[in-house]
Amino acid sequence: MVDGHTGGSIPDYQMASFLMAVFFQGLNFAETVALTRSYINTGDVVDLASFPGIKVDKHSTGGVGDKTTLVLVPLVASAGVTVVKMSGRALGFTGGTLDKLESIPGFRVDLTVSDLKSVARRTGAVLAGQTGDLVPADKKIYALRDVTGTVECLPLIAASIMSKKIAGGADRIVLDVKVGPGGFMADLDRARALAEMMVALGREFGRSAVAVLSSMQQPLGLAIGNALEVREALLTLSGRGPADLTELCLQLGAQMLIAGGVVADAASGYDLLAGKLQQGAGLAKMREIVAAQGGLASVVDNPDLLPLAAALVVVRSAGSGYVQAIKANELGWASLLLGAGRMQKEDQVDPAVGITLSKKLGDRVAPGEALAVLYVNRKNNLQEAERRTAEAFTIGETPPEIPPLIYEIIS
Ligand code: URA
Repeated sequence: MVDGHTGGSIPDYQMASFLMAVFFQGLNFAETVALTRSYINTGDVVDLASFPGIKVDKHSTGGVGDKTTLVLVPLVASAGVTVVKMSGRALGFTGGTLDKLESIPGFRVDLTVSDLKSVARRTGAVLAGQTGDLVPADKKIYALRDVTGTVECLPLIAASIMSKKIAGGADRIVLDVKVGPGGFMADLDRARALAEMMVALGREFGRSAVAVLSSMQQPLGLAIGNALEVREALLTLSGRGPADLTELCLQLGAQMLIAGGVVADAASGYDLLAGKLQQGAGLAKMREIVAAQGGLASVVDNPDLLPLAAALVVVRSAGSGYVQAIKANELGWASLLLGAGRMQKEDQVDPAVGITLSKKLGDRVAPGEALAVLYVNRKNNLQEAERRTAEAFTIGETPPEIPPLIYEIIS
């Protein structure tokens, strides 16, 4: 079925029926393994065997303001683990890592397999788009799922993500599964089920995987939007990033160091990486990666060289009290309206626009105080973006319970 559809002998309407059947009936584990294998077999598999050591990849199911890859790849590489990371572009309201990286002038993400290997050999890390012809079945089937309402189906998601990770060639995989309205899985039970399925699939294909269930109850860090997120990632690499982003990167990074055989436990990995942040080792590695991929390396030390929006618009609080909730998905939509993401596949993203939060969950706010700042280049959707940003914040009299940053780790 998968082969025939990829090759064109099975039409979309037949595959759409199959997907809808799976959506309602589910797949058992053996069927999910078979689907994943058939996906992988439609394309190339990157061979990283010639690289010394254990190669580690990380994957996030994506969320609003999630720029962990931009911090983790250089930081973990600075501790001696080879990280080969292939990323995607924005889908829906979550920004894509490739779009973020392309806000660095000159930075090339379209590397061939041989470019990718050469950058990884020189710097120990690479941040690229999907190289070669990896899992062509997923490209076609994902597009079909998108238009047939069959994206939200656990075995289809697990096969889609893990086939690409396995074909990407890394030995071990750290998965960041986001939980909450700003991510892909709104509730913990479904996120856990997806995580368990992906870890089990990794094991089946000889790739050990660990999944971290992390909170997307509010945006991660303060910045949403491509260049704004690169700027925040650079700040985090210099040890001055927002507390939640820094903490999540240290915890995910510790898992990557365990996977890479550098440390035996999470506490040692955490301490090692915290030290690297203090020494600026991750920032130095980022400078090397940017230069190796053709980007303007001086951006790393001077983020003002990144694209800047023409105007700033402050969204202010009408009431007073505590920030009780921040709807990350609403902010994701607002940044999309400003041009930071894609409504249609062929849309161009504007690297400069987006939102920075002035308040996070649990902060006190007075009437007229700033909740967020919009970075604006075009005015056409501005009012709607302002409205959605204001409505994303719930202000009330009592302080909220702050959800944990990490719910659990599944290995
Ligand atoms: N990301 C993917 O790559 N595939 C899915 O099915 C869902 C999220």
